[in-house]
Amino acid sequence: TASTRRTARLQPDEAGLARAAALLRDGGLVAFPTETVYGLGADATDGRAVAGIYAAKERPSFNPLIAHVPDLAAAQREGVFGADALALARAFWPGPLTLVVPKAPTCSVADLATAGLDSVALRVPAHAIANALLRLVGRPVAAPSANRSGRVSPTAAEHVLEDLDGRIDAVVSGGPTEVGVESTIVSCLDGKVTLLRPGGVARDAIETALGRGLDEAVFSEADHAPVAPGMLASHYAPKAAVRLAAQAIRPGEAALLFGPSSPQGAAGAAATANLSPSGDLAEAAANLFAMLRRLDGSGAATIAAAPIPDRGLGEAINDRLRRAAAPRG
Ligand code: TXA
Ligand code: MG
Repeated sequence: TASTRRTARLQPDEAGLARAAALLRDGGLVAFPTETVYGLGADATDGRAVAGIYAAKERPSFNPLIAHVPDLAAAQREGVFGADALALARAFWPGPLTLVVPKAPTCSVADLATAGLDSVALRVPAHAIANALLRLVGRPVAAPSANRSGRVSPTAAEHVLEDLDGRIDAVVSGGPTEVGVESTIVSCLDGKVTLLRPGGVARDAIETALGRGLDEAVFSEADHAPVAPGMLASHYAPKAAVRLAAQAIRPGEAALLFGPSSPQGAAGAAATANLSPSGDLAEAAANLFAMLRRLDGSGAATIAAAPIPDRGLGEAINDRLRRAAAPRG
């Protein structure tokens, strides 16, 4: 069963990557680094292997997954790229952008990975280890973040093991991830380009590459499955409660700070972490999940998060903090 596997620790050298690729090709579960967060990979063409992801993560099975490929040519075998999708792929791949496009007739991604939709989410990661692994596997690799469902996403191999040791076949070590929040998800369907999840590429950059503004996302109330499952309320929940836009720190709270000035009461915090003392939003994104984990580990009942500007990568940071603060189901 999912809970009795021996999880191999693999180095990202030739032997380690060959072993990781063989495990994936055999239907195994292998966590690997990308530039955003560590992914929990399975052969996206193998429904049984994909089912293993849901089991290991204890993830609600209505979430479609992102299929990872090594380059645009491989992506175009899986999905249909119109002018907008092509412009975005050329501007940001490899990189922290996922494109949801119509399935191509040659699409090899299993129905379970797309949750039966006639679209497919594709991403070309900008990470040497991920890219080498994807080339060795030679098939699309489905990979959500390598954490248990409802937990904070992993930005280091140790985080993966905290959640999934004994539940997956292997983890490839690759050091801390650079971007630190998941990819931006953009849907290019029916002539519309909409933002499904803010992430590692800022909205402004996408609109610049597109040469126009993004279309308004429309959510049908008839949809039971969330359009972008990142929309599940408590998707990034630490054990502690999270208090947003805290202007002052109350005694005993853990403090998640941003920028050079300390809020009132910060000296009385149970634990303190600063996402970016210089106020750099990219640095803050890279630190977000590891610092949430660390503050959660302090045992404080509440993490008070200082206000974060909503521009650039701040949109993704605030999105993840809101989810962390949402009531638990
Ligand atoms: O940075 C990332 O994107 C990481 C790394 C590992 O690459 N992966 C990741 O995957 O965050 P995951 O499974 O946590 O996110 C998948 C998201 C879900 O929110 C899902 O709703 C959306 O992609 N998605 C997948 N297929 C879709 C589709 N056909 N239509 C709409 N949304 C889709
Ligand atoms: Mg996730």
